[in-house]
Amino acid sequence: MPHTSAIPAYSADGVWEKLQLAAELAQPDVPVPATTLVSLVVQDGQIRWVGPSDALPAAFAALPRHAGFGALVTPGLVDCHTHLVYGGQRANEFAMRLAGASYEDVAKAGGGIVSSVRATRKASEDALFQAALPRLQALLDEGVCAIEIKSGYGLALEHERKQLRVARRLGEALGVTVRTTFLGAHALPPEYTGRSADYIKLVCEQMLPALAAEGLVDAVDVFCERIAFSLTETELVFQAAQRLGIPVKLHAEQISNMGGSALAARYGALSCDHIEHLDADGIAAMKSAGTVAVLLPGAYYTLRDTQLPPIAGLHAAGVPMAVSTDHNPGTSPALSLLLMANMACTLFRLTVPEALAGITTHAARALGLQDSHGLLASGRPANFVLWPVAEAAELAYWFGQKPACTIVRQGRVVRNDLRNDLASKDPSHGA
Ligand code: NIG
Ligand code: FE
Repeated sequence: MPHTSAIPAYSADGVWEKLQLAAELAQPDVPVPATTLVSLVVQDGQIRWVGPSDALPAAFAALPRHAGFGALVTPGLVDCHTHLVYGGQRANEFAMRLAGASYEDVAKAGGGIVSSVRATRKASEDALFQAALPRLQALLDEGVCAIEIKSGYGLALEHERKQLRVARRLGEALGVTVRTTFLGAHALPPEYTGRSADYIKLVCEQMLPALAAEGLVDAVDVFCERIAFSLTETELVFQAAQRLGIPVKLHAEQISNMGGSALAARYGALSCDHIEHLDADGIAAMKSAGTVAVLLPGAYYTLRDTQLPPIAGLHAAGVPMAVSTDHNPGTSPALSLLLMANMACTLFRLTVPEALAGITTHAARALGLQDSHGLLASGRPANFVLWPVAEAAELAYWFGQKPACTIVRQGRVVRNDLRNDLASKDPSHGA
């Protein structure tokens, strides 16, 4: 069972003091010398000030105090690529892959995305909500404060609507920022076999406009791949999104180099995701468009991929790199963003600061949330996490444990487990 705090949420307003700052993930109001403890002021659910504790402005001195016990403070985590809402699960494919089947073999045998489509179509909106709730809670318990949730297991208007409505309801029920992405072009639904062009027409002319009109679509995504949709079909979907003024992103170059990333960059894409087979032209196009590279080590690991994403090239070009769970029932049934940071370091050779920026600052950019999430700075909603660690590297170093952290989400203390863990280590804060 996922952890659910016994402590009810309460206002985080006041001065959070005696904290270590993850300097690369913050823009303090007053410069913070190394090893100096900081304070963070929250008023009306907003961060009002970040800086050295001994420079706290007098105007905040009388506010209530929250003991930080010397914990590390980071922005709330951002999971920028998930397929969190679906019916059923696909452990059988795990077994098939262990017996030697590839991702493409599984898809061709009637498994893969289409098997989740069958289960999702059968499920009611409430059943989908109940199934997704503990998955989302598990991510939130580790400090996620903003998350993207895609459709793409409905592949028909009413079922795509059902998924997106559940995504919105989850955000409201748990008090977390949810960005919805319409992924109607995820796979060809069985009733359109051999009629790919007709399905893309349906996506562009009916499904997307209807769902956008209902306020259910924050971004549009396509699975551009030889087992999914072509470059030409991808562009038709991008044009439909552009007509509606909705930003695009792309599942690109996962299994082969289709040139999807360069196309997405031409449409000013927020992000290109997976990108194991991305080439130099794609990197250059993403750089000039300001498109974020979203790395998905969970899918890479599950599929036992051997083609590494071009980290050195992305790094050299200065393309921002995000890291996400890609939570989905087929290729990445992962429910820990910190584990993905660990895997991005170990498998992809990201540095720790890159991995931590990947699950905060750059992930926020991949969702168009760079002005409100992923960075500790005054003027932003109070979303932050206090971690019981001596240094930031520990966030990516440990794996398989959920740290006993304190979480402030949307201005509320929604988990407060740090106290018990660190109070005994900090003699100046007894109780
Ligand atoms: O991001 N690549 C395509 N889509 C998902 C997999 C979805 C599935 O297999 O159900 C992904 O890995
Ligand atoms: Fe995905």
